[in-house]
Amino acid sequence: MPPFSVLVVGAGGREHALARAIAQDPQVIAVHVAPGNPGTATIATNHPVDQLDGAAVAALAVELGVGLVVVGPEAPLVAGVADAVRTAGIPCFGPSAEAARLEGSKSFAKDVMASAGVPTADARVCTTADEVAAALDEFGAPYVVKADGLAAGKGVIVTHDRQAAVDHAAGCDRVVIEEYLDGEEISLFVITDGTTCVGLQPAQDFKRVGEGDTGPNTGGMGAYSPLPWAPDDIIEQVLATVARPTLDELNLRGIEFSGLLYCGLAMTSRGLRVVEFNARFGDPETQALMGLVETPVGQLLLAAATGTLADFGEVRWHPGAAVVVVMAADGYPGTPAKGGAIMLPPDREDAWVIHAGTALDPDHDQLVAAGGRVLTVVGRGPDLAAARHQAYALVDEIDFPTGFVRRDIAARVLAGDPA
Ligand code: AMP
Ligand code: GLY
Repeated sequence: MPPFSVLVVGAGGREHALARAIAQDPQVIAVHVAPGNPGTATIATNHPVDQLDGAAVAALAVELGVGLVVVGPEAPLVAGVADAVRTAGIPCFGPSAEAARLEGSKSFAKDVMASAGVPTADARVCTTADEVAAALDEFGAPYVVKADGLAAGKGVIVTHDRQAAVDHAAGCDRVVIEEYLDGEEISLFVITDGTTCVGLQPAQDFKRVGEGDTGPNTGGMGAYSPLPWAPDDIIEQVLATVARPTLDELNLRGIEFSGLLYCGLAMTSRGLRVVEFNARFGDPETQALMGLVETPVGQLLLAAATGTLADFGEVRWHPGAAVVVVMAADGYPGTPAKGGAIMLPPDREDAWVIHAGTALDPDHDQLVAAGGRVLTVVGRGPDLAAARHQAYALVDEIDFPTGFVRRDIAARVLAGDPA
């Protein structure tokens, strides 16, 4: 494969982690990010382009002469940015707008899973208060109510409080109400060129804002990988029962999905069930996986974007584990406090900071909070305990008085639960 440069689209922690890993690929000459953040600026060139504007992203990719565009977040995918880049003749990692509906519409995803025979929670799509009431009564508590469109991880409520469930549904045009799934959650990412599927090692994400998995859902407050408790054949199981049947069903509908299929799974007492699909890398699980991947990431994503994954082989991983801890701004996932000053210690060999919602204060050249999830701290080590120690030791050196972390990321697994 000749050397090539890469444009990463997005501005969050996932994009910083991807850009950092891609920059380490020996075949990659240069990495660009649009629009990026102060963290990506330290390892790549940022370009102030609207990530939702497909024509502008495609024009930038042509101007830079990149060999690959990687679209990170769901919003540009749903807006058709990958389509615009491919139309301009540049290989793109990320599904078309049509295929990204697998994430953009919960009801579409449910319909595809039903046709494909993929195990998931039984669900009803509701548009009226009467339908909502009937579905809540049919499934009983705990109630699971999901807004149908994109909601940055905050459109779902899981509650025993029937009135809260009714109120959440009333705030959305169209909701999916579904059966509650018990058991541990697994995030398993499948890279596909539309034909060949390659599974990445599983991770676990911490969705709730509060310690002990309490409080509202967020985009994710931390993660770890690998999962010592997951079955050895989890990747093959998910490819066979979830990913391949889903991609086949999309193909039957004339939709090719290429890019990353994020399978959010619950290991329920009745077996594996899909909780959700996303059409892109997960955040913050990606920050953990990018700390462990040995395969050159630029070449892997280019193979997926050019339909040559079958010749690429399996993804290789460094031994050991990674733990990531998100530092969020006070108020998140409600209204986050903006502008809080941040002082960062230097990165270490086995612990580093990934930027998400940060900005540079134009007057003082001071790093400040500019979003809900502000930083992800990644720790790596020979095992989960060591990786966790690395992550929290660096967290403790960060001066960010208007931010907070969960102190219990990967604590339960180290205490033997899940076993
Ligand atoms: P989603 O956006 O569909 O991933 O939902 C966000 C989070 O809500 C999931 O990661 C789960 O923690 C929780 N959740 C979603 N659906 C269910 C369900 N059917 N049963 C239990 N928890 C769920
Ligand atoms: N970590 C959950 C997500 O990326 O949707």
